[in-house]
Amino acid sequence: MEELTREHKARLVAGASTWKTVSGGRDLPELLLADGPHGVRSQGAQGDSVGIGDSLPAVCFPPAVGLGSTWNPALLERVGNALGDEAARLGVNVLLGPGLNIKRSPLGGRNFEYFSEDPRLSGTLAAAMVRGIQARGVAATPKHFAANNQETDRMRVDVTVSERALREIYLPAFEQVVRDAGPWALMSAYNRVNGVFASENHWLLEEVLRDEWGFDGLVMSDWGAVDDPVAAVAAGLDLEMPPSGRHTRVLEALEEGHVDEAVLDSAIERLRRLAARTARPTAVDDRASAQAVALDAAREAVTLLENDGILPLAVEDHTRMLVVGEFARTPRFQGGGSSRVQPTRVLNALDALRERVAGTIAFEPGFTLSPGADTDLADAAVAAASDADVIIAFLGLPDHAESEGFDRTDLLLPADQLTLLERLRATGRPVVVVLSNGSVVDIASWRDGIAAIVEGWLLGQEGGRAIAEVLLGEVSPSGRLAESIPLRLEDNPSHLTFPGRDSQVVYGDDIFVGYRSYDTLGTQVAYAFGFGLSYTSFRYHDLQIVEIGRNRWAVRVRIRNTGSRAGSDVVQLYVAADGGEVRRPAHELRAFAKVKLAPGEEKPVEMEIGPRDLAFWNAQARRWQVEPGRYRIEVGASSRDIRLRGEIHSPGDGIIDPLRADSTLAEWERNPVSAKVLEQMRAGMPAGMAEKAPELLAMVRSTPVMKLTTWGLGLTEEIVQDVIRKANDALADGTTE
Ligand code: BGC
Repeated sequence: MEELTREHKARLVAGASTWKTVSGGRDLPELLLADGPHGVRSQGAQGDSVGIGDSLPAVCFPPAVGLGSTWNPALLERVGNALGDEAARLGVNVLLGPGLNIKRSPLGGRNFEYFSEDPRLSGTLAAAMVRGIQARGVAATPKHFAANNQETDRMRVDVTVSERALREIYLPAFEQVVRDAGPWALMSAYNRVNGVFASENHWLLEEVLRDEWGFDGLVMSDWGAVDDPVAAVAAGLDLEMPPSGRHTRVLEALEEGHVDEAVLDSAIERLRRLAARTARPTAVDDRASAQAVALDAAREAVTLLENDGILPLAVEDHTRMLVVGEFARTPRFQGGGSSRVQPTRVLNALDALRERVAGTIAFEPGFTLSPGADTDLADAAVAAASDADVIIAFLGLPDHAESEGFDRTDLLLPADQLTLLERLRATGRPVVVVLSNGSVVDIASWRDGIAAIVEGWLLGQEGGRAIAEVLLGEVSPSGRLAESIPLRLEDNPSHLTFPGRDSQVVYGDDIFVGYRSYDTLGTQVAYAFGFGLSYTSFRYHDLQIVEIGRNRWAVRVRIRNTGSRAGSDVVQLYVAADGGEVRRPAHELRAFAKVKLAPGEEKPVEMEIGPRDLAFWNAQARRWQVEPGRYRIEVGASSRDIRLRGEIHSPGDGIIDPLRADSTLAEWERNPVSAKVLEQMRAGMPAGMAEKAPELLAMVRSTPVMKLTTWGLGLTEEIVQDVIRKANDALADGTTE
């Protein structure tokens, strides 16, 4: 470190170019960075951050919306391995992904780059992916830390959010990935969080990320996120990307003593650690196996939402199948913006179907992927439909309808596609709809009379084949919804406050995001979180809950494939904490397991519950709290399809919070020292008061004890302060008993 001049140090905390870091001598070579989350978008040193320019060909895996629907961490680890292989082959040291922000609103323009509305699902999948990437000596960079849940005004919006919502919803996936997978890098977000830019947020970067969670990697900014480079360095940001050329300001601040040199040294130390960790990226498998992994991921992402029995298609030689929709020929397999990969090839569903089916398959594009209706195309499709035995309609959101950089304003499919679908249905021929979309679309308004609905999300370059295999029954669908599909946009809990205005957004929905709202309010949804059909059926039985430690339980259940086809199911474990002091969601996903079963096969599944799974964030004490009492354990196939129920009793965490000047009588009652004092005081009160005026007692219990000093009860400020001091001293010495 001594060898570096201050100027060199000031340069090292920003990049050298769009994708490279500055070299700092022999033990600190320059590093090559590249997007992205579902495929390597490497442009060499120069290039752009929005996916306009060319990049080297790389395998395009399903974006996070697809990966999230697989609910399969083992698969995500393989995707991570394959991404690491690709990065290593292209000489990339640091891969900018996965993205794991929570889908707060179904309108989020970047929802396709994120896994879920649920932090446990997001965190589990992201951790697996990070492990997979880093096993190849390539750094993963979970992003965007934190509360980056919309595209509107993303570079300056100030997110006003309670600490409880941050701790329970927006931070836990990051916490899980940090604690369980130890990412070597992390990317801070563009937006402000409670008034402070995420890239300049000491609380987020130092107190939470490093001190609490033990993160030992490097924090880089999102591209262009740094507003004030000096504030960023001081807050714990290690690397500004790309360089803004303001290193002289950092140098000045250093010379003038506004920034401690030790802070810069720590940042450079972390850069050095990143270089050491990524010094030898090694590809283990070849590109062909990366493609095979991309295909497996696409297969497991496909989510069957409706099926009147038409699927899997029984195709005879004479079956007249009509495929309608440009997406069948020109698949939309990834989203727009910085994550856009130059794929090594693209398989489309039309070709894949034709390869597999002996008879002829007619095709009509029906519409174009540009805005506006083309009635000739629609007319031709409807004409062809009249003598088809089955119509497969490939509908979805074209590129112009959703992308990084903007949010949608409604959930509707393009109007020309909806009109076409209506006309196809009117022919009376059975219609199967296959959807391609990166974020939730309205389905409820057109699903009546449709024979089957296959939600194909965005499936990556191999997706066309996966769709064909599912339609024809070579693969039984096993995707499950990682986000609820509401009946109406207005039902979404963020509706009244998304996306805010004038650079302000208030997360008024607080902890009630997605199913946490729907299931608590009993709001009907079109498709519930965790839902997905299969070609076979599963039975859950023999729920056993075994205590394995203090506030720890093993939850065991057996699952049986009761149908006649092989298939995979996702067993979901929800915990419901009701009856406590604070309002909690109806239930929360705490664990899940994807299980593959042959027909008739049965397997045991074991999931674990620990203290954090029972806890809520106590905003006043600023800590996790486990209340003593009963918790319900639910095992099901979706948040609305609970098959088995049990319960546990927790002793609580036994933590006593210190008394404060404004602690209420009720809080005094819970503290052993002050409770004793209260008992003595009560002895001096007129007998029978509690029975005579219970409402008075209730009122008094919620009053800060200090306020009671003016009520003429003989209680003085000195007495109150004395009790508080004694109670807190006893807490500190551990002598409360
Ligand atoms: C995106 C990041 C991306 C970066 C580099 C930004 O606009 O928000 O996710 O990694 O560009 O392309």
